[in-house]
Amino acid sequence: MSEQKRPELKRLFIETYGCQMNVYDSERMRDVLSPLGYATTERPDDADLVILNTCHIREKATDKVYSEIGRLRAHKERRAAEGRGMTITIAGCVAQAEGEEIMRRAPEVDLVVGPQAYHKLPELIARVARKTGERLAADFTAQEKFDALPARAPDGVTAFLSIQEGCDKFCTFCVVPYTRGAEYSRPLADVLHEARALADRGVREITLLGQNVNAYHGDGGAGFSDLLRRLAEIDGVERLRYMTSHPIEMDDELIALHGEEKKLMPYLHLPVQSGSDRILKAMNRKHDGAFYRDIIARLRKVRPDIALSTDFIVGFPGETEKEFEATMQMVRDVTFASAFSFKYSPRPGTPAAGMMGQVSEEAKAERLARLLELLSAQQLAFNQAQIGRVLPILVTGDGRRPGQKQGRSPYLQGVHFDDVRASKGETVAVRISAATQGSLSGVRHEMATA
Ligand code: SAH
Ligand code: SF4
Ligand code: F3S
Repeated sequence: MSEQKRPELKRLFIETYGCQMNVYDSERMRDVLSPLGYATTERPDDADLVILNTCHIREKATDKVYSEIGRLRAHKERRAAEGRGMTITIAGCVAQAEGEEIMRRAPEVDLVVGPQAYHKLPELIARVARKTGERLAADFTAQEKFDALPARAPDGVTAFLSIQEGCDKFCTFCVVPYTRGAEYSRPLADVLHEARALADRGVREITLLGQNVNAYHGDGGAGFSDLLRRLAEIDGVERLRYMTSHPIEMDDELIALHGEEKKLMPYLHLPVQSGSDRILKAMNRKHDGAFYRDIIARLRKVRPDIALSTDFIVGFPGETEKEFEATMQMVRDVTFASAFSFKYSPRPGTPAAGMMGQVSEEAKAERLARLLELLSAQQLAFNQAQIGRVLPILVTGDGRRPGQKQGRSPYLQGVHFDDVRASKGETVAVRISAATQGSLSGVRHEMATA
């Protein structure tokens, strides 16, 4: 009788940088590698296979990759001296943008794989193991990637579902159209199928992911609003969110849907980048400040409690003090529940990198500090405004203390509350009693009134 050979246990270390798209992709890489016997380790020195899933969006993000490769080199040499191997793989947007350069600068890197080729990882890693000398993986189409990667089997109650990749907007500061390629939307049936599978496994909240998620256009003319409506019909799916959106894709139908569809959570991440019309034009954002304010006003009309989040870039080439002040005014006028702000970072090959009037590092740092101070105050005020309110909280697990649970508010805030009965996946009423800039805490409502 022959004994079936089980795959030998190997250790996988993945470090993820950048956006939610990368977080999602890293999980999928784990999924394709686990049938080969790869189990996750938290220690790079312990790993047979290391994957850095990289981000190219700002210079700092890219620099991190090279310093991390340097650290890995030491682990690799130590392991080699002990007779153990280590395969170093660079994935993600730096891999896509600078694959050749990584190969040249970092001989210890075995494999470079762009975001469209992750389903080929088992084959690519086997090739490296056979020492064929091949080190570079090129682009494949997004369709092939989505079809080939198995649906995620998450254990939680919240999940990301990627529905769209790439971008054709070409904002003058941004590398994404170059690293993730042209916009591609997954077929409607595939997305619905994956959402049903997630709901069957206990997922109650789905966040749709894409670089321009609201530009989604499925087969048969299905638009993003159609997709949301179809997803809302799925039993078990209780909450829907999406990110990241572009203001020019917020059409009338989608705005109206925020008022009609109860499963659509009252929280929207809608990057604006700047409050100055001249800067918005130079950024090629395709809209002005008034257009953005109008969208917000219409959203608030149909969904008065909607909370907003955004992205800002300070110190875009040519930005004057007055133009920066227009950004500050935008923040005062709109008021945000949360935001991500960045100093402009010139990216090779993008139009803005060659623009006149690059802003000094000092001015960028000073503007960023002022903006962050204002945004932090708004975030704290938004969280404090929840005190005394009873919110529906989706239970995501146990809290730090016995008897404590943690969950998520409709506004994406983390909430801790005392309750022994509530189980994971349930939505319970919690009266909010305290707030910090980062999270809320409260008491199960029935208990509070008893
Ligand atoms: N697709 C999204 C954003 C993707 S990148 C959108 O259209 O809004 C995430 C954020 O990084 C951007 O919103 C922008 O604020 C920031 N960013 C992109 N390129 C940058 C650069 N060169 N320098 C600084 N910040 C940048
Ligand atoms: Fe980048 Fe602009 Fe596309 Fe967003 S819309 S990914 S910022 S080019
Ligand atoms: Fe970074 Fe690529 Fe995302 S550049 S922000 S990881 S799409």
